[in-house]
Amino acid sequence: MLTQFYIISMSNTIIKLAIFASGNGSNAENIALYFANNNQIKVDSIYTNKKDAYVVERAKKLGIKSYYYPKDVFTGGTELIKILKNKEIDYIILAGFLLKIPNNIINAFQNKILNIHPALLPKFGGKGMYGDNVHKAVKTSGDKESGITIHVVNEHYDEGTIVFQAKCNISESDSYTDIANKIHKLEYDNFPKVIKSFIKQE
Ligand code: GAR
Repeated sequence: MLTQFYIISMSNTIIKLAIFASGNGSNAENIALYFANNNQIKVDSIYTNKKDAYVVERAKKLGIKSYYYPKDVFTGGTELIKILKNKEIDYIILAGFLLKIPNNIINAFQNKILNIHPALLPKFGGKGMYGDNVHKAVKTSGDKESGITIHVVNEHYDEGTIVFQAKCNISESDSYTDIANKIHKLEYDNFPKVIKSFIKQE
């Protein structure tokens, strides 16, 4: 009887993450692996707006369910909120997700959506600024440093409260792919840990 109660109460405490990703999904995989043996936080499922995104393959290999929905399901929000609430998702993690999150999803998950941006916001943010576009813009600017920003998602693109930033140096000889590699390393080293501490301090 006691054992039964213990199992039930433990299972109630699991915090479920939904990861939204539009492309390669290396951050999604890194986050899933980080939490694989965590008995309080787990990646429940992965959502994509691109049917053939490589993140779908990664999810299969990881044994995590992935769901493809066309753009309007994400930008409309209502149907997706029902799906996420039915699955008892607690947090949404945007890991290379390229669509704007609509206000109804933001309201349904107030302060529970985190995004990673591959630059030091407010620099190099806003519409069209994603992935290699960001690294190319940084290269063209001649800046001597770049970095990552992890922030809470609000109704304005790349403008929610910043919870974490980390920097790296850029030398003149760095190509935009060298910059991308430095940024990815910062992302892999920090994003899962920041997700964990953000959840714990809430
Ligand atoms: C990551 O560098 C992430 O910061 C960036 O897309 C990349 C996805 O890589 N996100 C944005 O640019 C959002 N504006 P991944 O698919 O291999 O994780």
